[in-house]
Amino acid sequence: MQLPSFTLPPDCLRGRNILVTGSTSGLGRALALACAKAGATVILSGRNLAKLERVYDAIEQVGAPQPAIAPLDLATAAAPDYDHLAQVIGTEFGVLDGLVHSAALLGDRAPLEQYDVPTWCKVLHVNLTAPLILTQVLLPHLRKSASASVLFVSSAVAQNPRPFWGAYAVSKAGLESVRSMLYQELASVSTVRINSVNPGRLRTPMRAAAYPGEDPNTLPSAESVTDAFIYLLSDEARALSGQNVDLAHA
Ligand SMILES: NC(=O)c1ccc[n+]([C@@H]2O[C@H](COP(=O)([O-])OP(=O)(O)OC[C@H]3O[C@@H](n4cnc5c(N)ncnc54)[C@H](OP(=O)(O)O)[C@@H]3O)[C@@H](O)[C@H]2O)c1
Repeated sequence: MQLPSFTLPPDCLRGRNILVTGSTSGLGRALALACAKAGATVILSGRNLAKLERVYDAIEQVGAPQPAIAPLDLATAAAPDYDHLAQVIGTEFGVLDGLVHSAALLGDRAPLEQYDVPTWCKVLHVNLTAPLILTQVLLPHLRKSASASVLFVSSAVAQNPRPFWGAYAVSKAGLESVRSMLYQELASVSTVRINSVNPGRLRTPMRAAAYPGEDPNTLPSAESVTDAFIYLLSDEARALSGQNVDLAHA
């Protein structure tokens, strides 16, 4: 679906606690900064502490609410790591109002016939299984919010698989199934909203890896799509759940 036209009230995320995975780079980093500027307390999740600290400093520099750092390597995290994160969020924040799954791996661009199986397993784990586990352990905190919003970051190849996109395309198609099932399972028993967003092509390190010959200056910046994510995380979109939002053709 396309989003209706919207206007974001100033500070529309004030008082909300929002966890962003992949907040060290590209879209996730832009979202972390934009959510903080909109008043949210952002829980920065990523696998590289030094990069997390740089995003933390950037948020502090603009005078936005003090963020928190939640290191988690989605490729290697085990059950106790997820449980620990959920416990810390419960203790420190009590409530979680938003969860954005932006972290992902591109994997190989290769024919399925030759696709490296260990890479396949890693991409499916980081892009599909880990977001499900994280959602599972954080749902008790999301349910405590008056209007929590979960956003899975999708891709055009989720709906239209193209040759050589391998595990990445399969992982994004799987995320769409997770989004749809979770929405249907939760709709009648909770107010937690579940949506996915295809951000369209963006000038990020992942895009550069996928299209090394492309001139990055021809691509929209990650910052160009953050308003749509903020809208979906805010109360302004409280009626919107179970959707796949397509920003590529907005
Ligand atoms: N860029 C596009 O054109 C485009 C188009 C459609 C969809 N998307 C989607 O947009 C989202 C953001 O992608 P992007 O373009 O911003 O890519 P990016 O700049 O490469 O960012 C990917 C993020 O995922 C993190 N990550 C990777 N492996 C991880 C792991 N094992 N544990 C924790 N974090 C891990 C990276 O951490 P490090 O900083 O440590 O590497 C980085 O923060 C992805 O879901 C992608 O599929 C992007």
